[in-house]
Amino acid sequence: MAITFKSLSYIYDEGMPYAHKALDDINLNISENKITAIIGETGSGKSTLVEHLNALLLPSAGSLEILDHVIVAKEKNKGLKKLRAEVGLVFQFAEYQLFEESILKDAAFGPKNFGFSEEEAIERGKKALNMVGIPESMYQRSPLDLSGGQKRRVAIAGILAIDPKILVLDEPTAGLDPKGAKEMIDLFVELNHKHHKTVVIVSHDNDVVYNYADETVLMSGGKVAYHGPTLDLFEDEKLINDNNLLLPQTMVFKKALIEKGFKISKEARTMDMIVNEVVRVIK
Ligand SMILES: Nc1ncnc2c1ncn2[C@@H]1O[C@H](COP(=O)(O)OP(=O)(O)O)[C@@H](O)[C@H]1O
Ligand SMILES: [Mg+2]
Repeated sequence: MAITFKSLSYIYDEGMPYAHKALDDINLNISENKITAIIGETGSGKSTLVEHLNALLLPSAGSLEILDHVIVAKEKNKGLKKLRAEVGLVFQFAEYQLFEESILKDAAFGPKNFGFSEEEAIERGKKALNMVGIPESMYQRSPLDLSGGQKRRVAIAGILAIDPKILVLDEPTAGLDPKGAKEMIDLFVELNHKHHKTVVIVSHDNDVVYNYADETVLMSGGKVAYHGPTLDLFEDEKLINDNNLLLPQTMVFKKALIEKGFKISKEARTMDMIVNEVVRVIK
């Protein structure tokens, strides 16, 4: 298990009159080498949950194991810098954190900060920019001159340049156009399939979740309402209704075909897979 939450609670402004419990007794195992989606309504605790993964937030109660790190509430936890090099967190609207004078410097900032030589940091920055599709001709431009989607890419490159084992993304496609969003998701899927990164992605897009996430965690009111295989979640009508979840388009299409008498397997989760099954049946 890559990540284990043990009876973890988190309270914002603990001890204050306006204290707010955002995570309530979370017990959760997130598997290594998989893509895990975190879904749930706004305010359900998704960001608070993922901000624990690189110790940006420390638990108010309970504990958390990540790779070989253990973080315990109210204790002096050591080795957080090493943890932050192993777990890359891309915030929602990460582009607001760009600050260097050039794109390349921004992408190289992370590795430099984690102790790599200037040269190595630049090499890693270039490699990461290449992965997110930012061409060399743009390296010396100011990140502030870029479009929203490009800024987001540079911010993500800054995290990839650290080469973390676990990549955590908080709504990485929010506000991107559909093509930009698709390219972004393809990148994360490739990082998982080819480079064996554990990917944790907070998403509002149930189609992305359905198509790509091996497992899904559904948050509701600071608690885990479901954790398990993504395909099982979307088959569970009670869970869907109780949590006002929108069915993925792919699933709506699949259901319509099944109603018309086509035998489509549960595992068919993308349009391509469904089309292949229909073709097989027709032939
Ligand atoms: N910095 C903060 N201070 C106080 N309360 C917060 C803060 N950030 C989030 N919250 C509250 O904690 C709860 C969970 O928020 P969050 O984790 O951001 O949810 P989500 O990412 O699912 O929208 C919400 O009720 C939210 O208002
Ligand atoms: Mg959030």
